Amino acid sequence: MNQPAGKLLLFGATGDLAQRMLLPSLYGLHIDGLLPPGLTITGTARSQHDDASYRAFAAEALDTYLPADRKNDAAVGQFLSRLGYQPLDASHPQGFDALAAKVGSCDQGLAIFLSTAPSLFRATIAGLAGAGLACDGVRIGLEKPLGTDLATSREINDAVAEVFPEDRTFRIDHYLGKETVQNILALRFGNTLFEPVWSARGIDHVQITVAETVGLEGRAGYYESSGALRDMVQNHMLQLLALIAMEPPARFDGTAIRDEKVKVLRSLRPIVEADAPQLTVTGQYVAGAVKGEAVRGYADELGKPSPTETFVALKAHVDNWRWQGVPFYLRTGKRLPARHSEIVVQFKPVPHSIFAERGGKLQPNALVIRLQPEEYVRLLVMAKEPGLDREGIRLREVPLDLSLDTEFAGTRRRIAYERLLLDLIDGDPTLFVRRDEVEAQWTWIDQIRRGWEAHGMKPKPYTAGSWGPSAAIALTERDGVTWHDE
Ligand code: BG6
Repeated sequence: MNQPAGKLLLFGATGDLAQRMLLPSLYGLHIDGLLPPGLTITGTARSQHDDASYRAFAAEALDTYLPADRKNDAAVGQFLSRLGYQPLDASHPQGFDALAAKVGSCDQGLAIFLSTAPSLFRATIAGLAGAGLACDGVRIGLEKPLGTDLATSREINDAVAEVFPEDRTFRIDHYLGKETVQNILALRFGNTLFEPVWSARGIDHVQITVAETVGLEGRAGYYESSGALRDMVQNHMLQLLALIAMEPPARFDGTAIRDEKVKVLRSLRPIVEADAPQLTVTGQYVAGAVKGEAVRGYADELGKPSPTETFVALKAHVDNWRWQGVPFYLRTGKRLPARHSEIVVQFKPVPHSIFAERGGKLQPNALVIRLQPEEYVRLLVMAKEPGLDREGIRLREVPLDLSLDTEFAGTRRRIAYERLLLDLIDGDPTLFVRRDEVEAQWTWIDQIRRGWEAHGMKPKPYTAGSWGPSAAIALTERDGVTWHDE
């Protein structure tokens, strides 16, 4: 393990992410005594603040976003005393000297958390280098968006690589910071039970759903340049797919785990132009109701018509020995009926049913890994209903339930960024995305977008509060598969 950094520099320190996630996460680490004792945190952004007014700003964010049982005036006071602030207009190189003076020497190690508009990326990296904020002990955490396709992602990665070597570049995918996502590794590689059936031999198909109830949330500027495919599939969903499909790594470390993930990402069968209309569905929500509340359509929220997709469903394949012939159905969207993320591994039916002649009907087993909002792993197995069976054997699917919420009820659920910020400070890259992974992800996504363009595919309207356009249902039903919509 590397030396923990003695300083943290937070770009975007007055932004939404900082208020909702980063400051509460850092405070959470602080009160649990997990931050290095002398760690100072310098915030920077365009807004004019001095240390005192930034501390007041941070105090308000903590007051707004911390759960009541985590608020403690004394601890908040101590945490705030770690904070300082330096305003910066990253488009002007001169400002970086003042920033460097504020941060001070990076001899004790510096971790930088960079989330910035794509247009300021290059200038920011150059500014850091010019002001001596890129020396050997500096690690940089990069928050998306890091490009909109392979070419722009390469440009950004090249600009970063000129200054920071790959082993000091920490690309963030906040899904990897989620406890339940890391639990996929424990489930697969901490148990012998699943591995013998974890392949085309035992598995019929896999479904990955990340459903959200929220809409545009005032992020028009970003979302319009992104859409659901780039916002959710390119990163979070492909990472989930890679964790489900990867070979067992030899060790629990950043090299072994990322080597196995990238092999999966490179084995994704390209969705070639001709196949895009059959293998992908896009949608955009129109006015409807979510959880009983009337909501506007995407174009209404935006104030103009838009070609941006707020929903994607697609059928993917991993072309290797383990997964030959096993479809991976992926689906994500905004303004769906429920907020839930889950992975369903549908096993194959038994080769021969001894119950058929006695009227017993079998369902193939399924493993449901619920990532959020609840956290559970549920294995659906067949059981006989109690009775004397005079009119035939009645079998029913029942869940073998592992509720992680209940099992670990005494443990506080952490924000994904707590884990990631701490790993960045400590220098552990395991849960960050390596450049070759990102490039394999973009290569696959760009091909899909080319297919959409070639066919002039426009998102199909779906009513807010529904499970997306009916074509998404047809996508799986054609294969005799039903989305798991519980
Ligand atoms: C972000 C996307 O990466 O993930 C958002 O930009 C999305 O559009 C969010 O809402 C979902 O994250 P979570 O943790 O709420 O599932």
